[in-house]
Amino acid sequence: MTTCLEVRNVSMRYDQLLALSDLSLTLNEGQTLALVGANGAGKSTLMRLLCGLLTAEKGEIDVCQKPLALGRPRASASAGLALVPEGRLLFESLSIEENLQIGRSQRGGVWDLAAIYTLFPILKEKRKLPPSALSGGQQQMVAIGRALASNPRILLCDEISLGLSPLVTQEVYGVLKHIREQGTSLIIVDQDVSRVTAFADQVACMFKGRVTLAGSARTVTLKQIKDSYFGLTT
Ligand SMILES: Nc1ncnc2c1ncn2[C@@H]1O[C@H](COP(=O)(O)OP(=O)(O)OP(=O)(O)O)[C@@H](O)[C@H]1O
Ligand SMILES: [Mg+2]
Repeated sequence: MTTCLEVRNVSMRYDQLLALSDLSLTLNEGQTLALVGANGAGKSTLMRLLCGLLTAEKGEIDVCQKPLALGRPRASASAGLALVPEGRLLFESLSIEENLQIGRSQRGGVWDLAAIYTLFPILKEKRKLPPSALSGGQQQMVAIGRALASNPRILLCDEISLGLSPLVTQEVYGVLKHIREQGTSLIIVDQDVSRVTAFADQVACMFKGRVTLAGSARTVTLKQIKDSYFGLTT
């Protein structure tokens, strides 16, 4: 299987705090990785590093066997990394359609505005409105659509179901399934470990800035994940 993402020995600090510590991780093309770990483990930091919002003090990242320039959002976008951020972070002064358009990059692909509206018909209906006119679930759809607009190779979804009802969460996972079927690789962070692990092909558990458990989502057990979650494995 071809590797589409390889993170090697990456460390990152916020001043004195070592948020990522010699972290390594791989993701195969077309696969979905469930990234789990307790609060403060470093999941969002890794996501933000991958999309160029942070830089590392050490280590390398390859996307499709090519080195990624760190700390440069444009380099990450053109390599094919796009983030659906924790808390969505939509632009309230822009319309829904403008929020979607802001995600566009130089990369070509299937995800033009028409394709995004086919996936989310409600957004077409409400395209002239500000994000505040939408429900939480619909806002999450805008955040996903904005990331898709860059035609990512690897879609990074941070806290994908946070604040959403079970029904809406199910809808969001339906959308992710469709995106995966287009060949896109995914990294999903979700506090609902059973759900995200059941959806994923691979699982990685982080503890204090490191990956302490990684493997196939079919063979890694919830007990192993739980132990890793609480730092009982090294
Ligand atoms: N901007 C920041 N400045 C300083 N420290 C930060 C900053 N952002 C995160 N941290 C710290 O870095 C560590 C990793 O945080 P991060 O947000 O990556 O964890 P997380 O796994 O996403 O947690 P959560 O499950 O709560 O979202 C934590 O100790 C956190 O307090
Ligand atoms: Mg987080």
